[in-house]
Amino acid sequence: MARKKIALIGAGMIGGTLAHLAAMRELGDIILFDIAEGIPQGKALDLSQCGPIDGFDAKLTGTNDYADIAGADVVIVTAGVPRKPGMSRDDLLGINLKVMKAVGAGIKEHCPNAFVICITNPLDAMVWALREFSGLPHNRVVGMAGVLDSARFATFLAQEFGVSVRDVNAFVLGGHGDTMVPVTSYTTISGIPLDDLVKMGRSTKERIDEIVKRTRGGGGEIVALLKTGSAYYAPATSAIAMAEAYLGDQKRILPCAVYVEGKYGLDGLYVGVPVVIGANGAEEIIEIALDDEAKKNLQVSVDAVKELLVACKGIDESLA
Ligand code: APR
Repeated sequence: MARKKIALIGAGMIGGTLAHLAAMRELGDIILFDIAEGIPQGKALDLSQCGPIDGFDAKLTGTNDYADIAGADVVIVTAGVPRKPGMSRDDLLGINLKVMKAVGAGIKEHCPNAFVICITNPLDAMVWALREFSGLPHNRVVGMAGVLDSARFATFLAQEFGVSVRDVNAFVLGGHGDTMVPVTSYTTISGIPLDDLVKMGRSTKERIDEIVKRTRGGGGEIVALLKTGSAYYAPATSAIAMAEAYLGDQKRILPCAVYVEGKYGLDGLYVGVPVVIGANGAEEIIEIALDDEAKKNLQVSVDAVKELLVACKGIDESLA
């Protein structure tokens, strides 16, 4: 059987980390694509030279030509620019929408059967636009946010309770960013619901509320520390888990930004919900019962995503 082909669109901080992780785990041969000349080639060459030390056979290639992503099984998109000081949200949307248009066209032409994972922000709008521009079926285009957001939630909870991160099962819904909805009633530590642990006196509601707040601002906390960029290790690790679930037909239930139509009372937009990821991509959305507070918070999140979509349609008429 031929090796799988993983195309990484964007060879910046997350793109480079994705390439490293994908090579170490031998997910397949890796193509790093970027518009910046030399960067994908340089990173591919550097990473190739890890092979003899780590003992991986993955072939890494850098390119500025979309033709080289032909036949990719998985495409992970990080291309775009981050929000810079003085840039309005619409300025950022306008720039990254154009990037999604070019990337979508490249995928449509060269690898229309791929499973596509979008990471570019603002995530819930960009993954929607990428799907529109590429024309791929909705189940083959997903956004990475919930895996990262729940990993952040789990990290802080493990610290709070002094337990292994492996025993924490954190549950996050909604859009990526300030309006995400960490659902404490579905969050467990070794099967024990968080709310029960609070009742048992192991923590307090106030402390859990603080952790929820910190999780929501998790990306911003890292930007403030790094000063010159945003998080890349955990975002890349999250997307690799999603790619592995697809390539291995693992049927993992992961919180991802997927197209929701009907479930959760939604009428066709991308938002973070639990979904089964397997060989058919986003195979089945799991609809869980939400309490009134979670429902209200999810609505706030959905409204924020809808507002972004209206702005996108205003910027690019072909999306309207
Ligand atoms: N086509 C391909 N690559 C592009 C394009 C384009 N049209 N425009 C920009 N790029 C490339 C840049 O040249 C850069 O190498 O995208 C890369 C982005 O890398 P970084 O700036 O290092 O950003 P990174 O930290 O990797 O984050 C990427 O993910 O989490 C989100 O908010 C984050 O939207 C950002 C994205």
